[in-house]
Amino acid sequence: MKDKQFITLGIESSCDETSAAVIGEGRTVLSNVIASQIKVHQVFGGVVPEIASRHHLDNINTVIDNALTEAGISLKDVDLIGVTYGPGLVGALLIGLATAKSLAYALKKPLVGVHHIQGHISANYIEHKELKPPFMALVVSGGHTNIVDVTDYNRYEVLGRTRDDAAGEAFDKVARVLGLGYPGGPLIDEAAKTGNAHAVEFKRVFLEKDSLDFSFSGIKTGVLNHLNTQKLKGETVNVNDIAASFQLAVIEVIVAKAVMAAQRMKKDKIALAGGVAANSLLRKLLKEACDQKGIALHYPSPILCTDNAAMIGCAAYYKYQEGMADDFYLDAYPNLAL
Ligand code: KG4
Ligand code: ZN
Repeated sequence: MKDKQFITLGIESSCDETSAAVIGEGRTVLSNVIASQIKVHQVFGGVVPEIASRHHLDNINTVIDNALTEAGISLKDVDLIGVTYGPGLVGALLIGLATAKSLAYALKKPLVGVHHIQGHISANYIEHKELKPPFMALVVSGGHTNIVDVTDYNRYEVLGRTRDDAAGEAFDKVARVLGLGYPGGPLIDEAAKTGNAHAVEFKRVFLEKDSLDFSFSGIKTGVLNHLNTQKLKGETVNVNDIAASFQLAVIEVIVAKAVMAAQRMKKDKIALAGGVAANSLLRKLLKEACDQKGIALHYPSPILCTDNAAMIGCAAYYKYQEGMADDFYLDAYPNLAL
């Protein structure tokens, strides 16, 4: 490996993925190791914070070692350490943060704390080498649903957010009531492929006219009520139809608001990010809507949509480029604002 490259070691542990990545010159992934805890939490139907922290602790050193080995470097080659410091589960965040601080101290290298959402948005820089701000970002994950005006690498304005459940959370909850399992997003995506998306016209919740905020808790109740009514009437429940109808209702609103935001702020690019960005219908309908309006759409490949440290390393690089660095008092913030 060429030692002239600027090397960032990214670390992510905000939820149930322990991840470390080695990034060259901010955008080139030399390794991106992700230890997923999905199987551990599956039996509980969701992430159990205490169990997540313990697994991060068990995995973090191995994950970092593997990331360095895969990239063909050793710790002394690292120029910068970037780590997620919020938002997320506090115990989970602390494992990554304590590890990053220890490494930065021992190696005498700079430390940069990264906002998890800034990381998700930055995943787009990795895959689209030509992408530069300004653009509109749509961040849809298990914990967040945000429309973000990205005016520069480190300048963000949140124009819209969910007022209750995050989009991914709604997918997970509806999948649970449909008996599909956890995590629900990919399972609904798959079930919907053979379902009729117009079987049930669930209410599309747009909130006030011109609002860029979201609300997904109503549709979850809508699905539940529909299921109960069907059961009371003795009707057979077609899970695939309900999955497809729910998915279409959620995605239509997300697409409409993302395009509205881009047009309002005169942005000709939208970057999609977060776990739900892997959704096949979202990608399809947003692409169609963007094509109609002459907006370019960018999204990362599925592995960079989910929580990973490559996106954190990339975001840390751009913060460091602007002279931003943190000291060892950097703390974990479960509700960190963008
Ligand atoms: O970004 P992420 O890995 O973690 C958070 O920061 O929250 O997102 C996880 C979320 C979960 O709710 C999962 O169900 C959802 O992303 N998800 C999907 C798909 N793949 C993952 N939702 C809809 N369709 C998918 N294909
Ligand atoms: Zn995430």
